[in-house]
Amino acid sequence: MNPVETVPKMWRVYVGILLLTLCIVEKVHSNTWWYVGMVSSAQLQRGPDEVRSRDPRFLKCRSMTFLNTKQRDLCLKSRNLLPVISNGAEIGLAECKDQFSTRRWNCTTFPNATNVFGKVLVRKGREKAYIFAISSSGVMFAVTRACAKGVLGICGCDTSIRKKDTEGDFKWGGCSHNIKYGDKFTKEWVDAQEVRLTKDGLMNTWNNEAGRKAIKASTKLICKCHGISGSCSQKICWRSMGNFKEVGSILKEKFDGASQVKFSKKKNRLLPIGKNQKKPTKKDLVYIDDSPDFCEYNPETGSLGTKDRLCNKSSQGLDGCALMCCGRGYHTIVRTVSEECDCTFFWCCRVVCKKCQSRVEEHFCN
Ligand SMILES: *[C@@H]1O[C@H](CO)[C@@H](O)[C@H](O)[C@H]1NC(C)=O
Ligand SMILES: *[C@@H]1O[C@H](CO)[C@@H](O)[C@H](O)[C@H]1NC(C)=O
Repeated sequence: MNPVETVPKMWRVYVGILLLTLCIVEKVHSNTWWYVGMVSSAQLQRGPDEVRSRDPRFLKCRSMTFLNTKQRDLCLKSRNLLPVISNGAEIGLAECKDQFSTRRWNCTTFPNATNVFGKVLVRKGREKAYIFAISSSGVMFAVTRACAKGVLGICGCDTSIRKKDTEGDFKWGGCSHNIKYGDKFTKEWVDAQEVRLTKDGLMNTWNNEAGRKAIKASTKLICKCHGISGSCSQKICWRSMGNFKEVGSILKEKFDGASQVKFSKKKNRLLPIGKNQKKPTKKDLVYIDDSPDFCEYNPETGSLGTKDRLCNKSSQGLDGCALMCCGRGYHTIVRTVSEECDCTFFWCCRVVCKKCQSRVEEHFCN
């Protein structure tokens, strides 16, 4: 055989193997549907393909290459579904950023990557657990709310709850959030990209479920009184999810108390790492790997480091300069801000204020 010919052939095989490996690695590490949270809801509602095609919904669902087959099928169920899920991914993301704004890892996202959260997902750590849980609860929140508003056409309010005995305390009325539907739909959506019975799959589906449980934990009974001025002779109640901030806080607590587990190949299950460790409940977050300390910039772990992060000088906690700056110290920047103060109201209708200058000290990690 001519040796000149074999070289490019071998080369092609190598490239093929390399690409295949990359694809597999990418599949394992990224839950790419999060990307719909980065594509704005408005964009999803009016894509250019809508004009070109007779069935825009089909084309749009199909063109979302970062969704898998199951998700594309679900996507076809309702034309408003994608914007709703996008909204769910967005509120999950925003809440994650808010909850972690004063932590070393602050839920950093990379808007241009389909793997929205970057390298932090390579490690099966607490951060990954929280990301999965908050995304799952974000989708459940958005879907359940959309059901109640009737915008999906495939679900509505929970009417079966009205059969529940209230022991004469109140009457069911209004629109109870359909938690059961939201849960079921969300499970299908968020677990669709998981291969169960693998380390990753078990951990991710566990945390996805913990996210949905947090929504359930936030639901409460809302009541309205009817009757002659305050007599409350008739009380009408319905079940409602709490606001999403509550869900974010519940999951933040679960993050701090997350259980470390190991994968048992023999039993195909996640088990507590030590005999004395308490078994995690379905409401708890579980993780397998320890996290990096996120002190220094390290692209391998997805750590951006805490240089130039704002810290709280008077706090001994995680937001305090000692812990946030990892012992490197901090520098202080003084700003003067002017704001309106000592306002006086003149009849009628004028408000006159003075301008007050105040000094604001801010501390940043070295
Ligand atoms: C990310 O995308 C935006 C707009 O799509 C673009 O302006 C920006 O340069 C991109 N950033 C990187 C790092 O690719
Ligand atoms: C989050 O951390 C990164 C890297 O340390 C920083 O650039 C960014 O400003 C932080 N975001 C917020 C909201 O503090």
